[in-house]
Amino acid sequence: MKTIKVSASKEYEVVIGSGVLASLGESCSALFGKSRAVIVTDSNVAPLRLSEAKESLENAGIQTVDFVFPAGEESKCKETLFELLEFMAENRLTRSDFAVALGGGVTGDMTGLAASLYLRGVPFVQVPTTLLAAVDSSVGGKTAVNLTAGKNLMGAFYQPSLVVCDTDTLSTLPESEFANGMAEVIKYGVIFDRKLFDKVRSGNVKSDMEDIIARCVELKRDVVAKDEFDKGDRQLLNFGHTMAHSIEKCSHFEISHGSAVAIGMVIAAKASAKLGWSDEDCTAEIIEANKNNCLPVECDFEPRALADAALSDKKRSGGTINFVVPRVVGECYLQKIPVDVLYEIAECK
Ligand code: NAD
Ligand code: GLY
Repeated sequence: MKTIKVSASKEYEVVIGSGVLASLGESCSALFGKSRAVIVTDSNVAPLRLSEAKESLENAGIQTVDFVFPAGEESKCKETLFELLEFMAENRLTRSDFAVALGGGVTGDMTGLAASLYLRGVPFVQVPTTLLAAVDSSVGGKTAVNLTAGKNLMGAFYQPSLVVCDTDTLSTLPESEFANGMAEVIKYGVIFDRKLFDKVRSGNVKSDMEDIIARCVELKRDVVAKDEFDKGDRQLLNFGHTMAHSIEKCSHFEISHGSAVAIGMVIAAKASAKLGWSDEDCTAEIIEANKNNCLPVECDFEPRALADAALSDKKRSGGTINFVVPRVVGECYLQKIPVDVLYEIAECK
Protein backbone atom coordinates (compact mmCIF):
# COMPACT_ATOMS: atom_id res chain seq x y z
CA MET A 1 0.00 0.00 0.00
CA LYS A 2 1.19 3.53 -0.75
CA THR A 3 -0.05 6.85 0.63
CA ILE A 4 0.61 10.09 -1.20
CA LYS A 5 -0.19 13.49 0.32
CA VAL A 6 -1.56 16.17 -1.98
CA SER A 7 -1.21 19.83 -0.98
CA ALA A 8 -3.50 22.16 -2.85
CA SER A 9 -6.27 24.47 -1.53
CA LYS A 10 -7.09 21.37 0.52
CA GLU A 11 -4.64 18.78 1.83
CA TYR A 12 -5.61 15.16 1.38
CA GLU A 13 -4.27 11.65 1.08
CA VAL A 14 -4.36 9.32 -1.90
CA VAL A 15 -4.26 5.72 -0.66
CA ILE A 16 -3.31 3.16 -3.32
CA GLY A 17 -3.15 -0.60 -2.99
CA SER A 18 -4.77 -3.99 -3.20
CA GLY A 19 -7.86 -4.32 -0.97
CA VAL A 20 -7.87 -0.74 0.35
CA LEU A 21 -11.60 -0.40 -0.40
CA ALA A 22 -12.21 -2.40 2.79
CA SER A 23 -10.74 0.49 4.81
CA LEU A 24 -12.90 3.17 3.16
CA GLY A 25 -15.30 3.35 6.13
CA GLU A 26 -12.57 3.60 8.74
CA SER A 27 -10.77 6.37 6.81
CA CYS A 28 -14.02 8.31 6.26
CA SER A 29 -15.04 7.98 9.88
CA ALA A 30 -11.63 9.34 10.92
CA LEU A 31 -12.25 12.35 8.66
CA PHE A 32 -15.97 12.98 9.06
CA GLY A 33 -17.08 11.15 12.24
CA LYS A 34 -20.36 9.23 12.29
CA SER A 35 -21.93 11.18 9.48
CA ARG A 36 -24.01 10.09 6.44
CA ALA A 37 -22.83 9.52 2.90
CA VAL A 38 -24.35 9.40 -0.56
CA ILE A 39 -22.51 6.81 -2.65
CA VAL A 40 -22.63 7.78 -6.32
CA THR A 41 -21.88 5.10 -8.87
CA ASP A 42 -22.86 3.97 -12.37
CA SER A 43 -24.87 0.97 -13.56
CA ASN A 44 -21.73 -1.05 -14.44
CA VAL A 45 -19.85 -0.45 -11.21
CA ALA A 46 -22.86 -0.85 -8.88
CA PRO A 47 -23.16 -4.64 -9.26
CA LEU A 48 -19.38 -5.01 -8.92
CA ARG A 49 -18.39 -2.80 -6.00
CA LEU A 50 -21.33 -0.97 -4.40
CA SER A 51 -22.05 -3.55 -1.69
CA GLU A 52 -18.38 -3.64 -0.67
CA ALA A 53 -18.17 0.15 -0.37
CA LYS A 54 -21.49 0.33 1.48
CA GLU A 55 -20.53 -2.40 3.92
CA SER A 56 -17.21 -0.75 4.72
CA LEU A 57 -18.91 2.61 5.42
CA GLU A 58 -21.79 1.15 7.43
CA ASN A 59 -19.46 -1.03 9.52
CA ALA A 60 -17.72 2.20 10.49
CA GLY A 61 -21.02 3.68 11.64
CA ILE A 62 -21.71 5.79 8.54
CA GLN A 63 -25.24 5.56 7.15
CA THR A 64 -25.43 5.49 3.35
CA VAL A 65 -27.84 6.16 0.52
CA ASP A 66 -27.01 5.17 -3.09
CA PHE A 67 -27.43 7.11 -6.31
CA VAL A 68 -26.91 4.85 -9.35
CA PHE A 69 -27.00 6.38 -12.85
CA PRO A 70 -26.69 4.79 -16.33
CA ALA A 71 -23.03 4.18 -17.22
CA GLY A 72 -21.50 6.31 -19.98
CA GLU A 73 -20.30 9.78 -20.90
CA GLU A 74 -23.89 10.76 -21.92
CA SER A 75 -24.77 10.70 -18.21
CA LYS A 76 -22.17 13.36 -17.44
CA CYS A 77 -24.74 16.08 -18.07
CA LYS A 78 -26.70 18.73 -16.24
CA GLU A 79 -29.79 16.49 -16.06
CA THR A 80 -28.01 13.74 -14.04
CA LEU A 81 -26.20 16.37 -11.99
CA PHE A 82 -29.53 17.96 -11.02
CA GLU A 83 -31.08 14.54 -10.25
CA LEU A 84 -28.15 13.88 -7.94
CA LEU A 85 -28.52 17.26 -6.21
CA GLU A 86 -32.27 16.67 -5.74
CA PHE A 87 -31.50 13.19 -4.39
CA MET A 88 -29.07 14.66 -1.84
CA ALA A 89 -31.72 17.19 -0.77
CA GLU A 90 -34.53 14.58 -0.58
CA ASN A 91 -32.28 12.52 1.67
CA ARG A 92 -31.62 15.60 3.82
CA LEU A 93 -27.87 15.43 3.65
CA THR A 94 -26.29 18.19 5.73
CA ARG A 95 -22.93 19.92 5.71
CA SER A 96 -21.68 17.27 8.17
CA ASP A 97 -22.32 14.61 5.52
CA PHE A 98 -20.31 13.74 2.39
CA ALA A 99 -20.40 12.15 -1.06
CA VAL A 100 -18.45 9.14 -2.32
CA ALA A 101 -17.66 8.88 -6.04
CA LEU A 102 -17.31 5.15 -6.72
CA GLY A 103 -16.38 4.70 -10.38
CA GLY A 104 -14.51 6.14 -13.32
CA GLY A 105 -13.94 9.71 -14.41
CA VAL A 106 -17.58 10.28 -15.31
CA THR A 107 -18.70 9.44 -11.76
CA GLY A 108 -15.84 11.37 -10.16
CA ASP A 109 -16.25 14.52 -12.25
CA MET A 110 -20.01 14.70 -11.71
CA THR A 111 -19.98 13.81 -8.01
CA GLY A 112 -17.24 16.35 -7.36
CA LEU A 113 -19.27 19.08 -9.04
CA ALA A 114 -22.43 18.10 -7.11
CA ALA A 115 -20.44 18.15 -3.87
CA SER A 116 -19.11 21.63 -4.68
CA LEU A 117 -22.66 22.91 -5.26
CA TYR A 118 -24.77 21.15 -2.64
CA LEU A 119 -25.27 23.46 0.39
CA ARG A 120 -22.46 25.56 -1.14
CA GLY A 121 -20.05 22.69 -0.63
CA VAL A 122 -19.94 19.34 1.17
CA PRO A 123 -16.85 17.11 1.28
CA PHE A 124 -16.38 14.25 -1.18
CA VAL A 125 -14.21 11.17 -1.48
CA GLN A 126 -12.92 9.73 -4.75
CA VAL A 127 -12.89 5.95 -5.14
CA PRO A 128 -11.54 5.50 -8.69
CA THR A 129 -12.33 2.17 -10.38
CA THR A 130 -10.86 2.85 -13.84
CA LEU A 131 -7.17 3.25 -14.58
CA LEU A 132 -7.86 6.67 -16.08
CA ALA A 133 -9.58 7.83 -12.90
CA ALA A 134 -6.83 6.31 -10.74
CA VAL A 135 -3.96 8.08 -12.50
CA ASP A 136 -5.67 11.29 -13.52
CA SER A 137 -9.24 12.40 -12.84
CA SER A 138 -9.55 11.43 -9.15
CA VAL A 139 -6.65 13.68 -8.15
CA GLY A 140 -6.37 17.42 -8.62
CA GLY A 141 -9.89 18.73 -8.16
CA LYS A 142 -11.14 19.31 -11.68
CA THR A 143 -14.88 18.56 -11.59
CA ALA A 144 -17.38 19.07 -14.40
CA VAL A 145 -20.30 17.97 -16.51
CA ASN A 146 -20.71 18.45 -20.24
CA LEU A 147 -22.98 21.01 -21.93
CA THR A 148 -24.53 20.67 -25.38
CA ALA A 149 -21.81 23.00 -26.68
CA GLY A 150 -18.94 20.81 -25.46
CA LYS A 151 -17.23 18.68 -22.85
CA ASN A 152 -16.57 19.85 -19.29
CA LEU A 153 -17.99 23.33 -19.92
CA MET A 154 -19.80 23.47 -16.54
CA GLY A 155 -17.37 22.80 -13.73
CA ALA A 156 -15.40 23.90 -10.71
CA PHE A 157 -12.06 23.35 -9.09
CA TYR A 158 -13.04 21.42 -5.96
CA GLN A 159 -10.59 19.07 -4.26
CA PRO A 160 -11.66 15.77 -2.71
CA SER A 161 -11.00 15.10 0.99
CA LEU A 162 -9.58 11.65 0.32
CA VAL A 163 -8.83 9.32 -2.61
CA VAL A 164 -9.03 5.56 -2.06
CA CYS A 165 -7.67 3.67 -5.04
CA ASP A 166 -8.10 -0.09 -4.74
CA THR A 167 -6.01 -1.69 -7.50
CA ASP A 168 -8.16 -4.85 -7.28
CA THR A 169 -11.07 -2.95 -8.84
CA LEU A 170 -9.13 -2.80 -12.12
CA SER A 171 -9.45 -6.57 -12.56
CA THR A 172 -12.98 -6.22 -14.00
CA LEU A 173 -12.12 -3.38 -16.39
CA PRO A 174 -12.64 -4.20 -20.07
CA GLU A 175 -9.27 -4.30 -21.93
CA SER A 176 -10.22 -1.26 -24.02
CA GLU A 177 -10.81 0.77 -20.83
CA PHE A 178 -7.49 -0.41 -19.41
CA ALA A 179 -5.78 0.74 -22.62
CA ASN A 180 -7.50 4.14 -22.30
CA GLY A 181 -5.88 4.54 -18.91
CA MET A 182 -2.50 3.43 -20.27
CA ALA A 183 -2.60 6.30 -22.78
CA GLU A 184 -2.58 8.70 -19.82
CA VAL A 185 0.22 6.74 -18.12
CA ILE A 186 2.36 6.95 -21.29
CA LYS A 187 1.51 10.64 -21.40
CA TYR A 188 2.91 11.19 -17.87
CA GLY A 189 6.07 9.36 -18.92
CA VAL A 190 6.62 11.56 -21.96
CA ILE A 191 5.87 14.80 -20.09
CA PHE A 192 7.80 14.21 -16.88
CA ASP A 193 9.50 10.88 -16.38
CA ARG A 194 11.70 8.88 -18.75
CA LYS A 195 11.97 6.05 -16.18
CA LEU A 196 8.19 5.66 -15.99
CA PHE A 197 8.02 5.69 -19.80
CA ASP A 198 10.63 2.93 -20.02
CA LYS A 199 8.75 0.88 -17.43
CA VAL A 200 5.50 0.89 -19.42
CA ARG A 201 6.71 0.98 -23.03
CA SER A 202 6.76 -2.85 -23.30
CA GLY A 203 3.11 -3.14 -22.25
CA ASN A 204 3.93 -5.63 -19.48
CA VAL A 205 2.40 -3.57 -16.73
CA LYS A 206 -0.33 -5.50 -14.97
CA SER A 207 1.81 -6.95 -12.18
CA ASP A 208 3.09 -3.49 -11.30
CA MET A 209 -0.03 -1.37 -11.15
CA GLU A 210 0.38 -0.08 -7.58
CA ASP A 211 3.79 1.42 -8.38
CA ILE A 212 2.72 2.75 -11.77
CA ILE A 213 -0.41 4.44 -10.40
CA ALA A 214 1.51 5.82 -7.43
CA ARG A 215 4.17 7.33 -9.71
CA CYS A 216 1.50 9.00 -11.88
CA VAL A 217 -0.23 10.36 -8.77
CA GLU A 218 3.09 11.76 -7.47
CA LEU A 219 3.63 13.50 -10.79
CA LYS A 220 0.11 14.90 -10.77
CA ARG A 221 0.48 15.96 -7.11
CA ASP A 222 3.59 17.96 -8.00
CA VAL A 223 2.02 19.76 -10.93
CA VAL A 224 -1.21 20.49 -9.03
CA ALA A 225 0.78 21.86 -6.08
CA LYS A 226 2.52 24.28 -8.47
CA ASP A 227 -0.51 25.27 -10.51
CA GLU A 228 -3.83 24.11 -9.06
CA PHE A 229 -5.90 26.44 -11.23
CA ASP A 230 -4.41 25.51 -14.59
CA LYS A 231 -2.78 28.81 -15.46
CA GLY A 232 0.62 27.40 -16.41
CA ASP A 233 2.45 24.14 -15.69
CA ARG A 234 -0.73 22.08 -15.25
CA GLN A 235 -1.41 22.66 -18.94
CA LEU A 236 1.52 20.31 -19.63
CA LEU A 237 -0.97 17.52 -18.81
CA ASN A 238 -2.63 18.40 -22.11
CA PHE A 239 0.19 16.76 -24.09
CA GLY A 240 -1.47 15.07 -27.08
CA HIS A 241 -4.85 16.56 -26.15
CA THR A 242 -5.12 19.34 -28.76
CA MET A 243 -5.41 16.86 -31.62
CA ALA A 244 -7.08 14.26 -29.37
CA HIS A 245 -10.07 16.53 -28.86
CA SER A 246 -10.29 17.06 -32.63
CA ILE A 247 -10.09 13.31 -33.27
CA GLU A 248 -12.86 12.65 -30.74
CA LYS A 249 -15.04 15.33 -32.35
CA CYS A 250 -14.37 14.19 -35.94
CA SER A 251 -15.25 10.60 -34.96
CA HIS A 252 -18.47 11.81 -33.29
CA PHE A 253 -16.99 10.34 -30.11
CA GLU A 254 -16.75 6.83 -31.61
CA ILE A 255 -12.99 6.96 -30.93
CA SER A 256 -12.41 6.83 -27.18
CA HIS A 257 -10.54 9.57 -25.33
CA GLY A 258 -7.60 7.26 -24.57
CA SER A 259 -7.23 6.18 -28.20
CA ALA A 260 -7.49 9.80 -29.31
CA VAL A 261 -4.80 10.86 -26.80
CA ALA A 262 -2.55 8.05 -28.05
CA ILE A 263 -2.86 9.30 -31.66
CA GLY A 264 -2.65 12.94 -30.50
CA MET A 265 0.69 12.26 -28.81
CA VAL A 266 2.09 10.80 -32.02
CA ILE A 267 0.92 13.83 -34.03
CA ALA A 268 2.33 16.26 -31.44
CA ALA A 269 5.70 14.47 -31.41
CA LYS A 270 5.93 14.29 -35.20
CA ALA A 271 4.96 17.96 -35.63
CA SER A 272 7.33 19.12 -32.89
CA ALA A 273 10.22 17.32 -34.60
CA LYS A 274 9.27 18.69 -38.03
CA LEU A 275 8.90 22.26 -36.79
CA GLY A 276 12.25 22.08 -34.96
CA TRP A 277 10.80 22.45 -31.45
CA SER A 278 12.04 19.10 -30.05
CA ASP A 279 15.63 18.31 -29.12
CA GLU A 280 15.08 14.78 -30.40
CA ASP A 281 12.31 13.14 -32.42
CA CYS A 282 10.19 11.20 -29.89
CA THR A 283 7.73 9.82 -32.46
CA ALA A 284 9.11 6.29 -32.86
CA GLU A 285 9.28 5.65 -29.11
CA ILE A 286 5.73 6.89 -28.54
CA ILE A 287 4.46 4.72 -31.42
CA GLU A 288 6.19 1.69 -29.88
CA ALA A 289 4.70 2.38 -26.42
CA ASN A 290 1.21 2.87 -27.87
CA LYS A 291 1.33 -0.31 -29.94
CA ASN A 292 2.58 -2.42 -27.02
CA ASN A 293 -0.26 -1.09 -24.89
CA CYS A 294 -3.00 -1.88 -27.45
CA LEU A 295 -3.38 1.75 -28.47
CA PRO A 296 -3.69 3.18 -32.00
CA VAL A 297 -1.05 5.39 -33.62
CA GLU A 298 -2.91 7.02 -36.52
CA CYS A 299 -6.32 8.06 -37.83
CA ASP A 300 -7.93 8.67 -41.23
CA PHE A 301 -9.31 12.18 -40.77
CA GLU A 302 -8.36 14.98 -43.15
CA PRO A 303 -5.77 17.36 -41.62
CA ARG A 304 -8.01 20.36 -42.38
CA ALA A 305 -10.95 18.79 -40.51
CA LEU A 306 -8.72 18.11 -37.50
CA ALA A 307 -7.36 21.65 -37.45
CA ASP A 308 -10.84 23.19 -37.86
CA ALA A 309 -12.10 21.09 -34.97
CA ALA A 310 -9.13 22.18 -32.82
CA LEU A 311 -9.85 25.82 -33.59
CA SER A 312 -13.33 25.57 -32.10
CA ASP A 313 -11.93 24.07 -28.89
CA LYS A 314 -12.41 25.99 -25.65
CA LYS A 315 -8.66 26.15 -24.95
CA ARG A 316 -8.19 28.63 -27.76
CA SER A 317 -7.34 32.04 -26.30
CA GLY A 318 -7.21 34.96 -28.76
CA GLY A 319 -5.04 34.18 -31.76
CA THR A 320 -2.72 31.78 -29.94
CA ILE A 321 -2.87 28.48 -28.08
CA ASN A 322 -0.50 26.74 -25.70
CA PHE A 323 0.78 23.62 -27.44
CA VAL A 324 2.64 20.97 -25.42
CA VAL A 325 5.95 19.99 -27.03
CA PRO A 326 8.20 17.07 -26.06
CA ARG A 327 11.76 18.35 -25.77
CA VAL A 328 12.82 14.71 -25.20
CA VAL A 329 10.91 11.73 -23.80
CA GLY A 330 10.56 12.70 -20.13
CA GLU A 331 10.46 16.48 -20.57
CA CYS A 332 7.83 18.67 -22.20
CA TYR A 333 7.30 22.43 -22.39
CA LEU A 334 4.52 24.82 -23.43
CA GLN A 335 4.96 26.54 -26.78
CA LYS A 336 2.65 29.47 -27.55
CA ILE A 337 1.69 29.14 -31.20
CA PRO A 338 -0.50 31.16 -33.56
CA VAL A 339 -3.67 29.14 -34.19
CA ASP A 340 -2.88 28.93 -37.91
CA VAL A 341 0.06 26.64 -37.06
CA LEU A 342 -2.54 24.04 -36.11
CA TYR A 343 -2.96 23.39 -39.83
CA GLU A 344 0.73 22.49 -40.12
CA ILE A 345 0.52 20.32 -36.99
CA ALA A 346 -2.54 18.46 -38.31
CA GLU A 347 -0.60 17.70 -41.52
CA CYS A 348 1.56 15.40 -39.34
CA LYS A 349 -1.30 13.00 -38.69
P1 NAD B 1 -16.08 6.18 -17.22
O1 NAD B 1 -16.26 6.70 -15.87
O2 NAD B 1 -17.22 6.31 -18.17
O3 NAD B 1 -15.65 4.64 -17.14
C1 NAD B 1 -15.42 3.92 -18.33
C2 NAD B 1 -16.28 2.65 -18.37
O4 NAD B 1 -15.76 1.71 -17.45
C3 NAD B 1 -17.74 2.86 -17.97
O5 NAD B 1 -18.54 2.06 -18.78
C4 NAD B 1 -17.78 2.36 -16.53
O6 NAD B 1 -19.05 1.92 -16.16
C5 NAD B 1 -16.80 1.22 -16.60
N1 NAD B 1 -16.16 0.86 -15.34
C6 NAD B 1 -15.68 1.68 -14.40
N2 NAD B 1 -15.02 1.00 -13.47
C7 NAD B 1 -15.11 -0.31 -13.81
C8 NAD B 1 -14.60 -1.50 -13.25
N3 NAD B 1 -13.83 -1.49 -12.18
N4 NAD B 1 -14.91 -2.67 -13.87
C9 NAD B 1 -15.65 -2.68 -15.03
N5 NAD B 1 -16.12 -1.58 -15.60
C10 NAD B 1 -15.85 -0.40 -15.01
O7 NAD B 1 -14.82 6.85 -17.96
P2 NAD B 1 -13.30 7.07 -17.56
O8 NAD B 1 -12.51 6.66 -18.74
O9 NAD B 1 -12.97 6.52 -16.23
O10 NAD B 1 -13.24 8.65 -17.41
C11 NAD B 1 -13.51 9.48 -18.51
C12 NAD B 1 -14.05 10.79 -17.99
O11 NAD B 1 -13.07 11.38 -17.14
C13 NAD B 1 -14.36 11.78 -19.07
O12 NAD B 1 -15.60 12.36 -18.83
C14 NAD B 1 -13.26 12.83 -18.94
O13 NAD B 1 -13.67 14.11 -19.33
C15 NAD B 1 -12.96 12.77 -17.47
N6 NAD B 1 -11.62 13.19 -17.08
C16 NAD B 1 -11.50 14.05 -16.07
C17 NAD B 1 -10.25 14.46 -15.65
C18 NAD B 1 -10.13 15.37 -14.48
O14 NAD B 1 -9.03 15.84 -14.20
N7 NAD B 1 -11.20 15.62 -13.75
C19 NAD B 1 -9.10 13.96 -16.28
C20 NAD B 1 -9.25 13.06 -17.32
C21 NAD B 1 -10.53 12.67 -17.72
N1 GLY C 1 -6.43 15.98 -16.64
C1 GLY C 1 -5.80 17.21 -16.68
C2 GLY C 1 -5.75 17.95 -15.39
O1 GLY C 1 -6.12 17.46 -14.35
O2 GLY C 1 -5.33 19.05 -15.40
